[in-house]
Amino acid sequence: MRIIIEKDYEAMSKKSAEILAEVVNEKPEAVLGLATGGTPVSMYRNLIDMNKEGKIDFSKVTSVNLDEYKGLSGDHDQSYRYFMNNNLFNHINIDKKNTYVPNGLAEDIEKECSEYDKRIENLGGIDLQLLGIGNNGHIGFNEPDDFLHMSTHLTGLTEGTIEANARFFDKKEDVPTEAITMGLGGIMKAKKILLIASGENKAEIISKLVEGKITTQVPATLLQVHPNVTIVVDEAAASLLKK
Ligand code: GLP
Repeated sequence: MRIIIEKDYEAMSKKSAEILAEVVNEKPEAVLGLATGGTPVSMYRNLIDMNKEGKIDFSKVTSVNLDEYKGLSGDHDQSYRYFMNNNLFNHINIDKKNTYVPNGLAEDIEKECSEYDKRIENLGGIDLQLLGIGNNGHIGFNEPDDFLHMSTHLTGLTEGTIEANARFFDKKEDVPTEAITMGLGGIMKAKKILLIASGENKAEIISKLVEGKITTQVPATLLQVHPNVTIVVDEAAASLLKK
């Protein structure tokens, strides 16, 4: 794993936007695996600026998002489709037809999941997968468990994740309890992985991710065996790393 420590959230966001831009500049038709959450917001803002300045062109890019809440339509302001449109897609020159987010309203969830994986395969796989990290080590919505799933699947959210994500909803009861998420297989098959984290509250999980034992109870630790992972963190998130 390559670990890059930047001073603060803004510097981390700029650096990670540059890493993503490098991939697209090298391969204009790149397939990008994208993520939601508070962490990537400023990275996406940097990408919007870079797109306006002509430093990155999304016209041939395809994107596949990691996850979506079950039961929320793309118009719901807390759905991940809405998040992506609002925080990135509406402001860059990507063709929306080439942006994929699991359909949280799909009637046949199993079919939605298997088609999602097939689509990624047909696209030739993910060139760069962007990841945030949950406080409990979840990536996408792959929550700590005795067993992890390879494929895209429906999953229940842990109490801690529901609590952590409640800050985006009016009240905790409004947070969906289930989500569709890409599995560990989908993530691990990406050619390159970029994980970003910021702030003191991520310091413990970042130290487990980088220095802890590999365990399904901290799904992100599986990234230790991926051949091409870059982690960009700010000083606060890196504060518990030994070296
Ligand atoms: C959510 C998302 C994850 C994200 C995580 C961390 O649960 N499903 O993909 O990485 O939250 O979010 P934040 O960046 O807000 O800390």
